[in-house]
Amino acid sequence: MVTKKQNTSIPKTSLQNPKSAPKQFIDRNWKSLKKNDPEVFGAISGEEQRERKGIELIPSENYTYAEVLAANGSIFTNKYSEGYPGKRYYGGQEYTDCIETIAIERAKKVFRCEHANVQALSGSPMNQAVYLAFLKPGDTILGMDLSHGGHLTHGAVVSHMGALFNFVRYKTDPENSGQIDFDALMKTAKRTKPKIVLCGYTSYPRDYRYEDFKRVADAVGAITMADISHIGGLVATGVMSNPFDSGFDIVTTTTHKSLRGPRGALIMCKSQYAGRIDKSVFPGLQGGPHMQTIAAIAVTLGKALQPQFRDYAVQILKNAKVLAETLMKNGAKLITNGTDNHMMVIDTVKSFNLDGKQAEAILDAVSITTNKQIIPDDPNPPLKPSGIRLGTPAATTRGMKEPEMVKIGNWISRTLAGTQDEKLLRATKKEVEKLCLKFPVPGLILS
Ligand SMILES: Cc1ncc(COP(=O)(O)O)c(C=O)c1O
Repeated sequence: MVTKKQNTSIPKTSLQNPKSAPKQFIDRNWKSLKKNDPEVFGAISGEEQRERKGIELIPSENYTYAEVLAANGSIFTNKYSEGYPGKRYYGGQEYTDCIETIAIERAKKVFRCEHANVQALSGSPMNQAVYLAFLKPGDTILGMDLSHGGHLTHGAVVSHMGALFNFVRYKTDPENSGQIDFDALMKTAKRTKPKIVLCGYTSYPRDYRYEDFKRVADAVGAITMADISHIGGLVATGVMSNPFDSGFDIVTTTTHKSLRGPRGALIMCKSQYAGRIDKSVFPGLQGGPHMQTIAAIAVTLGKALQPQFRDYAVQILKNAKVLAETLMKNGAKLITNGTDNHMMVIDTVKSFNLDGKQAEAILDAVSITTNKQIIPDDPNPPLKPSGIRLGTPAATTRGMKEPEMVKIGNWISRTLAGTQDEKLLRATKKEVEKLCLKFPVPGLILS
């Protein structure tokens, strides 16, 4: 059955006492898990300790808000709500309609877009839904090469999307600080006639020149799509440019990276594409949306509208600049020779004679978490690549600022240069963990 009326206001309930309910709910649920499934409880509490003790520098990770954890662990988990607000295939939708409408309206406000879909289950289905909305098998998409910073879903040969569509890959120029040659891109577009021109990245430390991508797309009548998953929080606050300001058609973002929300996604577009996008997500690609995630996305976007979130985004960028400068001062070779965003990639082979797997492991041993990373046209394989990737959103969430970034940069270079020195490694681990205890992790419940 399809319900007709769209519910946009919060229905009244006598069941909740907003002052005491969340605390009781959290205590009761955690106590019950501890008692009835100590194995799972033990793993969660171990992860809490790990997150608290170490410095998290993986640029796609963050510490979410206590309120997001509450919404994401809420009883919306119980509910099936196939369809969209006001047009569902199950009954009992007054609260789901309400929460999804709040999330949609906040997304439109935060990203200044005409339409938002909040149902994609994560970043990969989010991009798949866009491709499947506009393309037929074999159609061409112009996307960034994986080793130059593009994501798997931007057409990597190992991905299903890479097999289904014809991805033509462009590269960056390492000799020119990682810039993109737009004259060459225009020629490629005219030759290959893409239906979508896609920009977006997972390991590219520069900003994009959206107006140049738009010019290329317009010349061949292609749709413009930006995947801002990594920089969602930076775009939301205006500290990095918004692709819609350059006339982009579609913008996708995950909600769990710099935006600090739950593991979810947003697909935003001009209203002329709203129907195609919504249909592509449901019923095209998915069944019931994860309403608990949508509730948590609504909370995240509410936070993103507050002025403190802009201060946070500004600090992420300041921290990244200082961390990059400190590393370069200590002799580290950074891909693109610096950063415009929250991340940086160190060529660990050239800088420290270590592959990325070795560098990641040695930093793990001193409680600094990074991830191994392929570098442009990497001669080494993905599980033993030539670099590591670092970023500042999570450390900034804990309140770390420029002085801490200098310390962290020095610890990283010292550790990677002194891998044989057991005493130094032990001392560094101690110093790292001592610093971390001064910067609490938000949202910790058990410890
Ligand atoms: C640019 C970009 N797009 C999409 C994704 C996919 O997101 P998920 O891992 O949630 O599927 C990522 C994840 O790292 C990403 O960096």
